[in-house]
Amino acid sequence: MNRVERVAALRARVAPWRAAAERVALVPTMGNLHRGHLTLVREARARADRVVVSIFVNPLQFGPSEDLDAYPRTLEEDMRQLEAEGCDLLFTPTSDVVYPRGQDGQTRVEVPGLSDLLCGASRPGHFAGVATVVCKLLNMVQPDVALFGEKDFQQLMVIRCMVEDLDMPVEVVGVPIVREADGLAMSSRNGYLTPTERERAPALYRVLTEAAGALQAGDAVEAVETAARVRLSEAGLRPDYVSIRSAADLSQPCRADDRLVILAAAYLGRARLIDNLQLRRA
Ligand code: PAJ
Repeated sequence: MNRVERVAALRARVAPWRAAAERVALVPTMGNLHRGHLTLVREARARADRVVVSIFVNPLQFGPSEDLDAYPRTLEEDMRQLEAEGCDLLFTPTSDVVYPRGQDGQTRVEVPGLSDLLCGASRPGHFAGVATVVCKLLNMVQPDVALFGEKDFQQLMVIRCMVEDLDMPVEVVGVPIVREADGLAMSSRNGYLTPTERERAPALYRVLTEAAGALQAGDAVEAVETAARVRLSEAGLRPDYVSIRSAADLSQPCRADDRLVILAAAYLGRARLIDNLQLRRA
């Protein structure tokens, strides 16, 4: 597996693939890879001839009081895992490669509306940071297909919306959430949890599962959301939000919506955990 840090070197590697009409996939990540990321790489392999993975801890998507400096960086181990998964090219740009004019001078991509709800309400500017870096990575690599996890459901919606609005010629593929045996959604931020917190953390998925059951049994949306928040607090998590939305566009569900998603974020120690569960209403 080759690794490049600069855009010119990246393009020089990708050009012959494109010339040979090979299909190119991109999996953007922030590194500290786990089985969730590797599932995206495997899915990319299945859908394309060549797989490019990017690792870039994007400063533009972190708020001033967030964990940019503490975010785990494990390049050696990440490279070993990517090699084993058959990744063809690893792109690890530095901040000056991605933002040569500095973060303040960078042209931004904004996806209004979608970016202001749920996680966007607690993390102002986060999704503009995500959309900007993903737009840049897509322009740098120019893949045929790009893969993202449903773990970050709102992020996936923001990216789909950006790609559609800007007529970007790429297929966006969403990959189902990969979980630990006890249900906890895999995340680089799970590493922040102490052993006691780690034991409590699966409550997030448990509460979402119970909420899905209650909705399917006919309970009202607001009652289910409120009960879920109470259950999270009882389990020792500090809920940020629990929200039941239309899975099509994250709007408040109306009676006609049969595809719903329950999304939740909760603080546990140093970590802010997110998770979601899609369901069909009977
Ligand atoms: P990161 O958190 O490293 O995640 C990279 C990709 O892996 C995202 O598409 C994310 O949804 C997916 N992923 C993470 N955990 C997963 C799990 N348990 N199951 C399935 N997929 C999972 O998300 C980002 O980085 C950044 O915001 C990025 C898109 C790279 C832009 O900077």
